[in-house]
Amino acid sequence: MSQLDQDTLRFILEGAILAPSADNHHRVRFRLDHDTLRVTYTEPKLPPPAGYNRALALMSLGALVENLTITASRFGIRAVPLLLPDPNQPDWVLSIHLKPDQTVADPLWEMIPLRHTNRRVYFRGPRIAHAEQAELDSAAQLFPDCQLNWLDDSAIRNQILRLMRRAETERFRTRVLHEELFSAIHFETGWHASCPEGLPPGALGVEPLLRPVFALLRHWPVMRLTNLLGAHYMMGWRACDLPCRLAPNLGFLTVKNADDQSIFDVGRAFQRIWLTATSQGRVLQPMPASAIFALQGASKEGVPVDTQRSLADGWRTALGEAIPLMLFRMGFAKPIPIVAGRGRAEGYIKNG
Ligand SMILES: Cc1cc2nc3c(=O)[nH]c(=O)nc-3n(C[C@H](O)[C@H](O)[C@H](O)COP(=O)(O)O)c2cc1C
Repeated sequence: MSQLDQDTLRFILEGAILAPSADNHHRVRFRLDHDTLRVTYTEPKLPPPAGYNRALALMSLGALVENLTITASRFGIRAVPLLLPDPNQPDWVLSIHLKPDQTVADPLWEMIPLRHTNRRVYFRGPRIAHAEQAELDSAAQLFPDCQLNWLDDSAIRNQILRLMRRAETERFRTRVLHEELFSAIHFETGWHASCPEGLPPGALGVEPLLRPVFALLRHWPVMRLTNLLGAHYMMGWRACDLPCRLAPNLGFLTVKNADDQSIFDVGRAFQRIWLTATSQGRVLQPMPASAIFALQGASKEGVPVDTQRSLADGWRTALGEAIPLMLFRMGFAKPIPIVAGRGRAEGYIKNG
């Protein structure tokens, strides 16, 4: 590869890893073979089918690929991804064919470094106007299997909010989910610094007075004890119900079938929506728990059976056959001072 190619590759990978991922951890490595990027998983394979961990992994991969595709377009390169190209090599998650001189620069590339998760409690309005909503809708329409929906009607909004609150509450009530949530947070970083992987506490939007309490709740015995007094309900209300009620817009993405390709495409569509919202000056927080905890395999991964069933029933009553995968709240807010960092692109390249 020439020097220019090395620089171009690094630039494209830097754009890719700026993508969001469920716990700010891109479990991938890239290797360039001629005109194809071979992307391998850092674990032997993706999490098991039908579970929520696989959904998170596939949506995160989708977001990463969308960023990669947009960044590559800046150089006229069209990136054509193939998900799980070889069933006999389950750690080979993607093959991305890079075709030079086949596309024009996608203006969303400029939004990539500006996009961050914003977890401030209060997002102000105004709500999106028709023209802006059409812009977001067309971002999603590039992926025909995905449908973008808005929770504008207050009856359905309240119905979905109940499901969201139940799922977020469960993350503080059930030991496995609590462990997953808090293990992603790097408390050792402190509240005023960032870290290259995982979640820095400062990015969580926890008010200064509540920080010591929140930090204590990472210990399961403390969480379990305070749950006797209803702490999990308080946390579900503060983390989800209140910010969603205050948000000018709540949106969600559904698919007809929850197969790997559709979930991956939701990740791509979601990232385009997020970058488009960023270009409109809006901020966003993903909140997919109520959707992914309703997936059939979620109860094998720690979501209590009654919660999985009740979420699945709730969604069926609200939407019929459509399967929700990603929810988010959106509006205007000041940027957060601490954002999740990233490692150097070189660290994601596999040589040999
Ligand atoms: C599939 C997926 C699921 C996510 N779920 C949540 C969530 O439940 N709550 C939340 O606050 N952020 C969630 N996020 C946001 C990530 O935590 C965030 O993207 C990551 O920490 C990197 O930070 P950044 O978005 O500021 O770059 C999710 C992101 C993705 C892609």
